[in-house]
Amino acid sequence: MLSETESNIADAFASQGQAHVLRHANTLTATAREALFAQLAQIDLELLARLIAGGGDEKVNFATLSPSPYIALGSDGANARALGEEILRAGKVAAFTVAGGQGTRLGWKGPKGTYPATVVTGKPLFRVFAEQITAAENRYASAMPWYIMTSPLNDDETRAYFRDNNWFGRNPADTFLFPQGTMPSITFDGKLMLETPSSLAVNPDGHGGAIRALHASGALEDMKARGIAHMSYFQVDNPLVRIADASFIGLHAGSTHSSGQMSSKMVAKRDADEKVGVFCESAGKTIVVEYSDMPAELTNAVDAQGKLRFNAGSIALHAIAVAFMDQLTQGDFALPFHRAKKKVPYWCDVQSKVHEPNESNATKFEAFVFDALALAAKSLVMEAARVEEFAPIKNASGADSPASSHQIQSNRNGGWLEQFGVKVPRRENGDVDARIEILAQTALEAVDLADASLPREIKAGEEIVL
Ligand code: UTP
Repeated sequence: MLSETESNIADAFASQGQAHVLRHANTLTATAREALFAQLAQIDLELLARLIAGGGDEKVNFATLSPSPYIALGSDGANARALGEEILRAGKVAAFTVAGGQGTRLGWKGPKGTYPATVVTGKPLFRVFAEQITAAENRYASAMPWYIMTSPLNDDETRAYFRDNNWFGRNPADTFLFPQGTMPSITFDGKLMLETPSSLAVNPDGHGGAIRALHASGALEDMKARGIAHMSYFQVDNPLVRIADASFIGLHAGSTHSSGQMSSKMVAKRDADEKVGVFCESAGKTIVVEYSDMPAELTNAVDAQGKLRFNAGSIALHAIAVAFMDQLTQGDFALPFHRAKKKVPYWCDVQSKVHEPNESNATKFEAFVFDALALAAKSLVMEAARVEEFAPIKNASGADSPASSHQIQSNRNGGWLEQFGVKVPRRENGDVDARIEILAQTALEAVDLADASLPREIKAGEEIVL
C-alpha cells in the first residue's frame, strides 16, 4: 500500500511517462522504498519535462558573436598588483575549489583531488592546493579559508581523505567541504534510469551547480561572516593554478573594465583544435562558448596577421565576488543546462545487477559556472601565460594527461630557475629535459627564488625538488 504522499509522487511520475521508476517499489524493504520516494520527491518534474523536450538551454547567436577583449599578458600594471595585495593582506579572499566532477576520463578510483600530481614527489592535488594556500596565508599574514565543493557521489571519500591527512596541517575550521546537487540522467528516448531498484541514476549537476550549492550549504553565509569579499575559483585538476594572484584579484576588484563581480583568466589557444571553451562577446556580454558548440568557420577564422580570431581559451579560473553570488542566489535563479552524451551505468532487470555500458547510452544535464559571466554588469578577462598557470590533468594519456602536466610543471619550474642563471637542460622542442618540482613554501612565483639556495646547473634527466 502506498501512502497518500507516495501515491501523489507515483501519479506525478506516471503522468510524465516515467512510471517505470517505481517498477520495483512493491518488492523493496520499507527503508529502500522510503529512500526511493525521497529521491523522487526531490526531482523537479517540470524542469525535467522542459529538458527532455529540448529546452532549458540558451542558444548563442553566432552571427553577431565577436572575440572577447582581454587584458594582454604583462599589461595588468603595478597598481592592480598593489590593490590585490592589499585585499589579500586584509584577509578578504577565499580559495574555492570545484571538486564534484566524476573524473571519468582520467579513470582514477577516488576523488580527483587525491590523484598524485606533482612531477617528483607525486603530491596529490588537494595537498598541492593546501600547501599553496598556507604559503599565501604566511606571505600575506592573513587567513585564506578554503571552500571545496564535492558531490553526493564523492563527499564521504573526500572528507575521509582530508581527515586521514590531518587537513594537510591546516586548521580544520578553515576548510569547508560541501556537496553540490545532482540531476537525473535520461536515456536517449527521454526516460529516467534506475541505478539500483531503489535509486535513480544521477550525475552531479555541473560546476555551475556551485552557485546554488554555495548558498544552500551555508558556505556563502560563512564567507560573509568571515569578511570574505572575493573567491579565487579553480578546478581540482590544475596543479599549476595560482590561487592568490594579486594582479588578477586587483584587476578584478579595481579595473574600470570590471564590475568586480566575476572575472576570468584566459590563455592564447595552442591551435584551432585545442578543446577549450573560448571567451567571446555577445550582445555586450562576456560569454564562454564550448569548443563543441563553436561552428568550425569561427574556430578556424584568422585575422589579417594569421592569428586565430577566437583565441582566448578559458582555463576555468575566475575571481568571483561574494556579493555577486549572493545576488544571484536570491529568487528562483537558475543557470541553463547543457547536454552531454555519456556512459551511465543502469540497473538491468534481466541480470539483476548494474550494467556498465560500453558506449554512450544517456544524456547528462550540467550547468556551467561560466554562464554566470553574462549576468555580470561588466566582466574582465585577463591573459595568463600558459606555461605558468595551466597544466590540467583530464585524460589518462595524451593531451592534458599526467604526463603532459608533468612536462609543463618541469617547463615552468625550469623557466623560473633560468631567470636566476641556473643552467637547465632543454630538448630540441624547448621542453625541459629534467624533472623539477618547486614547493609552494619555496616559491609561489619566480621572484621568490631570489632568496632560495639554487644549484648552478641541472643535468639532463635529473630529478630535483626545491
Ligand atoms: P570536468 O569538465 O573536467 O569534468 O570538470 P569531470 O567530471 O571532472 O571529468 P570527466 O569529464 O568525467 O572526465 C572540470 C572541473 O569541474 C568540476 C570538476 O571536479 C573539475 O574540477 N566539476 C565538474 C564539479 O565540481 N561538478 C560537476 O558536476 C562537474
